[in-house]
Amino acid sequence: MVISGAGSGIGRACAELLRDRGWRVWAGYRRAEDGRALAAAGFRPLRLEVRDERSVAEAAATVAACCGADGLQGLVNNAGIAVAGPLEFLPLASFELQLDVNLTGVLRCGRAFLPLLRRGRGRMVNIGSMAGLIAGPMLGPYHASKWALEGLSDTWRRELLPQGVAVALIEPGAVATPIWRRSAAAAEELAAGLPEEAGRLYGRLHEGARRAAVRAEARAVPPARVAAAVRHALEARRPRTRYRVGRDARLAAVLRWLPDRWLDRLILRP
Ligand SMILES: NC(=O)c1ccc[n+]([C@@H]2O[C@H](COP(=O)([O-])OP(=O)(O)OC[C@H]3O[C@@H](n4cnc5c(N)ncnc54)[C@H](OP(=O)(O)O)[C@@H]3O)[C@@H](O)[C@H]2O)c1
Repeated sequence: MVISGAGSGIGRACAELLRDRGWRVWAGYRRAEDGRALAAAGFRPLRLEVRDERSVAEAAATVAACCGADGLQGLVNNAGIAVAGPLEFLPLASFELQLDVNLTGVLRCGRAFLPLLRRGRGRMVNIGSMAGLIAGPMLGPYHASKWALEGLSDTWRRELLPQGVAVALIEPGAVATPIWRRSAAAAEELAAGLPEEAGRLYGRLHEGARRAAVRAEARAVPPARVAAAVRHALEARRPRTRYRVGRDARLAAVLRWLPDRWLDRLILRP
């Protein structure tokens, strides 16, 4: 199994569960100290920067050299970041970074590991989000990345079905991981660099989104819940195409069928 971004949060929980079930786990990391910690925990550390084509190719070559003719049983495209800010003022570079990691990164890794997955009749599991089902203000880049990942995953599933490679999409609601702290810190930094006009036009929405994030994080489920869904997608005889993890994700899957104007009122209520 290969897992991108396995140093913390959902990736780490997946790595632990799959290791405990006897899989050989290649755990993706970026910083040397994370690689050492992953090795000490019984994983095979795999340097994997999903934004860098060369890093991805080297990672695939490392795994290929080890698994040879057996191929690879699973790829979990987990690495992700959450970029927040008003679409009007957000630097384009931040938007591009968001898509590069959460969307193009999945494409890069999928393409690099597909020959191995085909050989092993393995499966691809992409970590989406309920943010790919319903979009609110101030998290536009993240929503765009996860909505696009819905389309990418559906296309890939239908392209690979005839080749015996199953693709599943996990759509978690709020999960207790460091992404919240990381994203909030990046959002505050970004907001501090925006013109005064941005505060005037979007300050109220920014504050509302910040409060909603605090509430969501307080209700967040442990990452082990997501890992259990990933395990099912990788091991079950008949894996599902989509897994919604958490009550909030299941609710989002229903609410998104409401008329847009109702949802606008619901999402923007003070
Ligand atoms: N937490 C939630 O509420 C939630 C809900 C739905 C979906 N998700 C999704 O779950 C996935 C995992 O997030 P998490 O919540 O577990 O957050 P996390 O603890 O911050 O983990 C994100 C992981 O992605 C890695 N990463 C970030 N950029 C990378 C890059 N360019 N190349 C390779 N690795 C990179 C990080 O590595 P570094 O430590 O090196 O930065 C980290 O290991 C993401 O796709 C996220 O969108 C999370």
